[in-house]
Amino acid sequence: MRLGLVGGASEFTRGAYLVPRQVVLVTARHRDEEALWPVDLHMPLGFEPPRYALSIAAGAHGTGVLLAARAFLVNFVSAAHESVILEAGARSGRDGNKREAMGLQARPAVYIDAPRLDIAEGWLECGVEESRHMDDRVLVVARVLHAETRPSGPSLFHAWRPR
Ligand SMILES: Cc1cc2nc3c(=O)[nH]c(=O)nc-3n(C[C@H](O)[C@H](O)[C@H](O)COP(=O)(O)O)c2cc1C
Repeated sequence: MRLGLVGGASEFTRGAYLVPRQVVLVTARHRDEEALWPVDLHMPLGFEPPRYALSIAAGAHGTGVLLAARAFLVNFVSAAHESVILEAGARSGRDGNKREAMGLQARPAVYIDAPRLDIAEGWLECGVEESRHMDDRVLVVARVLHAETRPSGPSLFHAWRPR
């Protein structure tokens, strides 16, 4: 088998985003360091037991906090909060506590030490089982320890289009 991309990166991206990807806000906390960032590369892996996966940028502030904490919270947020999601993606936790700077209220999660955003319409509390570095990404596999959902509005989707 030949490893390598035939057709170009934009064709791969076009295919990967043929179905728009739901954007969630991931939060994590390790000691006094907090992280919050939008993620669209995420998916459920199975149901018995429930598992969840993220693909996150190696070296990013949020990734470091998540890996140190070995836990994270997936906040499902409606499209009504699009500006919050985009602002969270434009800021970096390296510059200070992003959530506090953005004025986002949160309460403690039940099974992990991570902030659960008040704007979340559903959430997953996840404990990291495995992480694997893949070039500029880290694949994170987690057990879902607690889940609640109460969606009330349409979700926000990332529908990438080639320029
Ligand atoms: C719509 C959207 C989707 C994103 N999806 C991902 C993703 O799946 N994985 C990832 O690592 N970063 C993703 N990002 C980028 C991070 O959210 C962004 O780099 C963030 O500011 C990193 O924050 P940090 O510096 O505090 O770690 C996405 C950003 C946006 C706006």
